[in-house]
Amino acid sequence: MALLQTRNLSVTFSTADGPVHAVNDISFNLCRGEILAIVGESGSGKSQTAFAIMGLLARNAHAAGSVRFGGKEILGLHETSMARIRASDIAMIFQNPMTSLNPYKRISSQMTEVLRLHQGLSRREARFQCIEMLKSVNLADAEIRFEQFPHECSGGMRQRIMIAMSLLCRPRILIADEPTTALDVTIQSQIVELLKTIRQVYGTTILLITHDLGLVAGCSDRVMVMYGGRVMETGPTEEIFAAPVHPYTATLLEAVPRLDREVSELPSIPGNPPNMLGPIPEGCPFSPRCQVGDQTCFTRIPEVSRSGQRSWACLKRDKGTGHETVAGN
Ligand SMILES: Nc1ncnc2c1ncn2[C@@H]1O[C@H](COP(=O)(O)OP(=O)(O)OP(=O)(O)O)[C@@H](O)[C@H]1O
Ligand SMILES: [Mg+2]
Repeated sequence: MALLQTRNLSVTFSTADGPVHAVNDISFNLCRGEILAIVGESGSGKSQTAFAIMGLLARNAHAAGSVRFGGKEILGLHETSMARIRASDIAMIFQNPMTSLNPYKRISSQMTEVLRLHQGLSRREARFQCIEMLKSVNLADAEIRFEQFPHECSGGMRQRIMIAMSLLCRPRILIADEPTTALDVTIQSQIVELLKTIRQVYGTTILLITHDLGLVAGCSDRVMVMYGGRVMETGPTEEIFAAPVHPYTATLLEAVPRLDREVSELPSIPGNPPNMLGPIPEGCPFSPRCQVGDQTCFTRIPEVSRSGQRSWACLKRDKGTGHETVAGN
């Protein structure tokens, strides 16, 4: 059984201009010990999917559907229970570590607070465990950094500190939302290596959110491609990079057809990104920009087709065939 399961998860915001349908009918499994990457362009609903799982949606949001953790429904749980899950089972690190660290408090007090509050450790024991964790995320001069304020550390160091903090309570799932966006390329690849090490050492299951295809290729076991709040395609990373089924994935990968190529930001696609405001589009959100679609794509939401470990939602791709035949269509 999957460690985390979403079924028909939707997130809608009420705004003065009308409803914003940020996430529509998303179903996926996060399996024990895997690194699953969610990839998609800005505004495709990646972060809101994560916030829905964490119970951290904005006040004007409404979530529907189901999120199960260890078989138990957690969508709509009372805030006290959700806070407990966030403290011990599912941790999240954010794009900009500076906004998640308190600039006025030393790293030592921010880190030990987590352990003293949630595990009732003594000051000395908490300090020991925090420094050990900082060392395990390869933070140089861990003891010195531990006593400093966040602004005394570089962006890469702060991200390591955030990752260390998120691991203190040994979460079973780590959601990393664009963990490397604010960092330069060398540090980015070090953070990717770190995520892989964390999975190996602690057995942590990782949900990696990114629009960086290089990160996806170098790090994840499986990838889920989102567009306009919907899942376009899901499958093992290598298979998707080798033979994408969905026209959107294919368009994304055209510029970067091989795993061993240097790949980074998503290439730009002609046309406008979907407008999430107003009624949910009746057809596939990618249809206005799709090269292979026709009129029916504007009027029908494609069902999800499956073959082996792969799934896709496209009317123009054969329902039953494996990816090789389908990709050649
Ligand atoms: N509080 C809010 N009220 C209204 N709309 C919102 C709110 N928060 C997010 N949205 C909208 O939800 C949609 C999905 O946003 P989300 O943050 O999930 O995108 P994303 O895929 O994470 O993008 P990025 O790569 O830029 O982080 C966007 O259209 C965004 O404008
Ligand atoms: Mg985001």
